[in-house]
Amino acid sequence: MSFTKIAGTGSYVPQTVFTNDDLKQFVDTSDEWIFTRTGIRERHMTQGETTLDLAYHAAINAIHSAQIDKNEIDLIIVATVTADYAFPGVSQLLQAQLEIEGATAFDINAACSGFLYAMQIADKMIKAGGFHNALIVGAETLTRLTDWRDRNTCVLFGDGAGAMIISKSDTNQITDIITGAQGDTDLLLVCKNPDLKDPHVNAISSQDHIHMKGQEVFKFATRIMPKTVTDLLERNHLTINDLDCVVAHQANQRIIDKSARDLGIDMSKMFSNIHKYGNTSAASVPIAIDEAIRTNFLKKGDRFITVAFGGGLTWGGALITL
Ligand code: ACO
Repeated sequence: MSFTKIAGTGSYVPQTVFTNDDLKQFVDTSDEWIFTRTGIRERHMTQGETTLDLAYHAAINAIHSAQIDKNEIDLIIVATVTADYAFPGVSQLLQAQLEIEGATAFDINAACSGFLYAMQIADKMIKAGGFHNALIVGAETLTRLTDWRDRNTCVLFGDGAGAMIISKSDTNQITDIITGAQGDTDLLLVCKNPDLKDPHVNAISSQDHIHMKGQEVFKFATRIMPKTVTDLLERNHLTINDLDCVVAHQANQRIIDKSARDLGIDMSKMFSNIHKYGNTSAASVPIAIDEAIRTNFLKKGDRFITVAFGGGLTWGGALITL
């Protein structure tokens, strides 16, 4: 039986910071409203850096943290909804930029749950044999899909990337991963591709923006995140008290607070950095895990669950011993 572990993590956010007060220049909002409703104080926004640029810097940091030769990486998966091109994927351009000869590389899209999906695929590909070290990345330039006229959504998002090296291991450290989906036929959270009105006319269509029915998404999130954690605990014969901490998708502090209350876990065990980054979609979980490790919130030997929900609608959770 082959096992897997987290061998290293890294993250990267663009330099430019927009505080809630900065947003007031072009959005009818206030720091007080945004912070009370979401827990967000500021977010990083790209000023020309591409999704690939963010993914590259996060990947370099993860490779350094894992202390492996980059050429030992044989699998690269990038989770993103903001790839720079329809093709090539961010993953393939990343493979070229990192100069990792011949590694299998592909992108996946499961919105904010994308990193958990990537982790599950990498974990299973290594456990099935044939792959040894996977670089998985969540990278987003979400602010380019933001409608700055829609104050309900534009205050929520930020840009960034997080990366992780998952390696074959003698010990069982990535113990279990759950993912799932429930097709969003009610269009609670959508960003449409341009319509192809007449395939024979080379029409230029404009890019759609993110649309969200916030309260419905809130209800979905606060139901699915505790359920995913509970499902993982039950099928591994554990209770919430067996966890050192939970690292949840950073979408809204009130979603994290309610999930913690419903799970009966102390808030001191819930990692949070949403105040600095906003919601960075697929990048949120790996940025949070990396920061939790770098700040010693998560320590070697800790058992934790990381959990996310996202557009699709999708969800995912992983039970891990660091
Ligand atoms: N600034 C000031 N006022 C605002 C703003 C703003 N930025 N946005 C909305 N308001 C106003 C509204 O117009 C409304 O005013 P009204 O009562 O006069 O009509 C009032 O504030 C309340 O609006 P609600 O939509 O009821 O606010 P709510 O408390 O539901 O909070 C929020 C909105 C923060 C979006 C919440 O619904 C939420 O967090 N939902 C989940 C969002 C989420 O996590 N989405 C996931 C994103 S993608 C992903 O991670 C999968």
